[in-house]
Amino acid sequence: MEGKYCIITYGCQMNESDSERLAGQLEELGYHSVAEPDGADVIIINTCAIRETAEQKVYGKIGELKHLKQEKPDVLIGITGCMAQKNKKALFERAPHLDFVLGPYNIHHLKELVRAGSKRSAHVLKTEMRGANIEDFTDLKAARKSDVFAWVPIMQGCNKFCSYCIVPYVRGREWSRPLRSIVREVEELAAAGYKEITLLGQNVNAYGLDFGDGTNFADVLRAVEEVPGILRMRYMTSHPRDMTREMIDTIAACSKVVTQMHLPVQHGSDAVLQGMNRGYTIAHYRNLADYIRKQIPAVVLTTDLIVGFPGETEEMHRETLALLQDIRYDMAYTFIFSPRSGTPAARMTDKVSAEDASRRLQELMQVQNAISLERNRDMVGQVHEVIVEGPTKNKPENWFGRTSGNKMIIFPYADGMRIGDVLGVRADAAQTWLLRGTPVEEKRS
Ligand code: SAH
Ligand code: SF4
Ligand code: F3S
Repeated sequence: MEGKYCIITYGCQMNESDSERLAGQLEELGYHSVAEPDGADVIIINTCAIRETAEQKVYGKIGELKHLKQEKPDVLIGITGCMAQKNKKALFERAPHLDFVLGPYNIHHLKELVRAGSKRSAHVLKTEMRGANIEDFTDLKAARKSDVFAWVPIMQGCNKFCSYCIVPYVRGREWSRPLRSIVREVEELAAAGYKEITLLGQNVNAYGLDFGDGTNFADVLRAVEEVPGILRMRYMTSHPRDMTREMIDTIAACSKVVTQMHLPVQHGSDAVLQGMNRGYTIAHYRNLADYIRKQIPAVVLTTDLIVGFPGETEEMHRETLALLQDIRYDMAYTFIFSPRSGTPAARMTDKVSAEDASRRLQELMQVQNAISLERNRDMVGQVHEVIVEGPTKNKPENWFGRTSGNKMIIFPYADGMRIGDVLGVRADAAQTWLLRGTPVEEKRS
C-alpha cells in the first residue's frame, strides 16, 4: 500500500508517545507520514481534554477537515486521545464526517480498523476500558520522531482524583507496565543509538503500587540505569504525595537520571490544596523540596500552578506568590482553572471572576519570570553539557540543545555538528526561557 497518514497531536507527552505508537501501526501497513492533512489517506487527531481551550482547539481542527472528507470520501478521519474517551459517540453527532473514535486503551485497534477501512459502513467507536492488557498498547512498535530522544510509557492512568482534573476519568486507574517490558524497550532504544529517554506516567511515583509486591519507581530507575548506551533518563510527572525519600535518594544516586524534576504544587494555600484534593500540605511540600535540594544540589525544579480555583481569595493567592519566592522554581507552568464537567470542582459554587483569575495569572507569571531569569543568569559563565537537538525554528544557523536540567541553550552552528552530539557549551547570556552560549569542547560522541 502506498498510503499517506497525518497525525495531529495535542496535549501532553503521553499523547506524543501514543501518536508514535499509532504511527507505528500505520507504517506497518505501508503508510508513510506527511506533515499536512491535505492529501493524506488517514488523518488522526490525537486529542486533549485537560482544559476547555484544549477541546475548543480540537473542535476547530475537526471542522477544518470537513472539506477534505467531502472532496475525498475515502479518506479516513479519526479521533484518539482523551477527548475520544470523554465524548465518545457525541463526537460523531457533532461531526458526522469522522470515521472512528478510539480511546487511549484502544489505540492498538488502529491497524485492523484501517485495514478494514474500505469495507467500513459505519462510525467505529472503541472506548471500552476493560479487557485490554496494558502491554497491548505500551508495547506497540513506535514510529518515533527522533533518533536520539524517545518516550517510554511506564504506566497509564491516575488514581488521585484531584477535584479539578479530568485525567482519571479518561485515562482510567493507575496501571503499571511490567518492569521487564520497560527494560526491553529501553534496551532496544539503546541498541538503536538513542541517547535520552523519558519515562512517562501521569504520576510516575505511583509506579508499581498496583502490583502489590513492593515494586516501585525507584526499581524502574535502577533497572534502566543498568542499560548500557543510554546517557540520560528523564521522568514525568512526579506527584508530591507519592514521592518518597527512597525515590529522591535513588534519583540522586543514579548517574543517568537528569537533574530536572517537575513537581507540580498547584497552589500555595493549604485550604485550596484541600479543595483540590491534592493530598498534601504546603509544609509537606516544603520539606520535600528541601530534601530534594539537599540530595540533588543541581536540581532544576519546575512546577504547575492553577489560579482561580473556586474559593481562592486574594490572601490565598498571595500565599502562592510567597511560595514562588520561597521555592524559587526554575520554571512554572501556570493555568487558569477550567471547570471540567463531571469533576467535583466544576460543581463548586464560589467561583473566581474571569478578571480576577487573569490578573492573578499575570501576577504569578511576573513573579516567576523574574525568578526564572535570575536562575538562568546563575548559569552564565559556566560550561554545561548539552545533547544537541538541531536547528532552531526561526534561525536555522542557530542550533540548540538541552542540559540535564532541561534548560535550552542556543548556540551558533559549527561544521560537522550533528543532532545527538554531546557538547560542552559555555552559557554567555540568559533570557527568561533560554540561554545563549558557545560550544567550547570537542564533541564527545
Ligand atoms: N499528572 C500531572 C499533570 C496532569 S495535567 C500532575 O498531577 O501533576 C497538567 C497540568 O494541568 C496539571 O498539573 C494542572 O496544573 C493543570 N490542570 C489540570 N486540570 C486542570 C483544569 N481543570 N483547569 C486548569 N488547569 C488544569
Ligand atoms: Fe490530574 Fe491530579 Fe492525576 Fe495529575 S495527579 S493527572 S492533576 S488527577
Ligand atoms: Fe491532555 Fe489527556 Fe494528557 S487530557 S494533558 S492529553 S492525559
